[in-house]
Amino acid sequence: MFESLKALPPDAILKLIVEHQNDPRAEKIDLGVGVYRDENGVTPILSAVKKAEQYVLDHQETKAYTSSAGDPVFNEVAESLIFGSDSALADRTTTLQSPGGSGSLRVAAGLILRANPDVTMWVSDPTWNNHVPLLGGAGLRLESYPYYDADDKTLRIDAMLETLNKIPRDDIVLLHGCCHNPTGMDPSREQWQQIADIVADRELIPFIDFAYQGLANGIEEDAYAVRVMAERATEMLVSSSFSKNFGLYRDRVGTLSVVSRDAAASKIVYSQACQIVRTIYSVPPDHGAAVVNHILRDAQLRAEWEVELGEMRDRLKLVRLQLVEALQQRVPEHNFSHITEANGMFSYLGITPEQVVRLKSDFGIYMEGFGRINVAGITGQNVAYLAESIAEIL
Ligand code: LMR
Repeated sequence: MFESLKALPPDAILKLIVEHQNDPRAEKIDLGVGVYRDENGVTPILSAVKKAEQYVLDHQETKAYTSSAGDPVFNEVAESLIFGSDSALADRTTTLQSPGGSGSLRVAAGLILRANPDVTMWVSDPTWNNHVPLLGGAGLRLESYPYYDADDKTLRIDAMLETLNKIPRDDIVLLHGCCHNPTGMDPSREQWQQIADIVADRELIPFIDFAYQGLANGIEEDAYAVRVMAERATEMLVSSSFSKNFGLYRDRVGTLSVVSRDAAASKIVYSQACQIVRTIYSVPPDHGAAVVNHILRDAQLRAEWEVELGEMRDRLKLVRLQLVEALQQRVPEHNFSHITEANGMFSYLGITPEQVVRLKSDFGIYMEGFGRINVAGITGQNVAYLAESIAEIL
């Protein structure tokens, strides 16, 4: 039977991890997969996480199954991180613990299809390289709206608003809550207001992919898009991930929140989502969620986490500045200021796919094929080599 299958190429982002690992060159640089790295190139386990893990080890009393929705205590605290502790939508919002942001997106896709098999989901052009395979693979019909002008290196806000203004009622618009992946370019607050106005006026359903809360400008600041949509939305979805802001990548922890028209509809959504989970992975993994739950509920650990998150955020901003400065010195005729305007881990460098290949083969510098860089891979030690290599291929 299996001989009928054709081999597929590996995922364009995940394959870079292995390629970089196997590269013997000492000067190699990994700007590929979106994981945070410190100034020594290490993805650290946060100190708040280490302490919370110890607490969980010491206090956990059982490894019996949780429910398909995960731990309700965790779900409550995660929901208030996302929507705010004073969310007016609490009685019509249901939140389920999920295996990372990807697990959340998959459950959301199943739920959406059950509710409306004819729906179209609109994704940004460009978007995260796994959005289309994951959501399309789950059966959703996808279309795209303009988002980023690769030549101008700016947001295509007018074209985006124009397209949103034509989307039929009840279609779903997938938006990146902050730190847009892959461009790092986020709408301003005024632009989010404009987007929210159109979404509400046209009765579209906003679906926020919220994988980087706290890595742009702050925990509350980065929730602006979610909150502004929540003020107006009759229904909405949020997939959140704690991979990046807690550094819990491999522990797989995230949430799916669904806002329904009223509390009764919310109960139905909960039952449907639980049944979808049961038929895919039955119950979510517990460890990461238990750690996040403890950190968010313990005042001291929460303060420690906020400091560590702030340090990650500051470093991402600093290395952006360092790269742009190093490039300005070497290729002043090129403008890279868009890199410092972007948020979070990613930016489009603004080079061609052929130049991306040359950076890899000639210089051992790894990035996603369209020139997306994870700026967390930049350090004080490698920024000069990186800028020189980019100058060479330009
Ligand atoms: C990325 O875009 O690099 C991250 O979201 C990790 C992943 O799973 O692709």
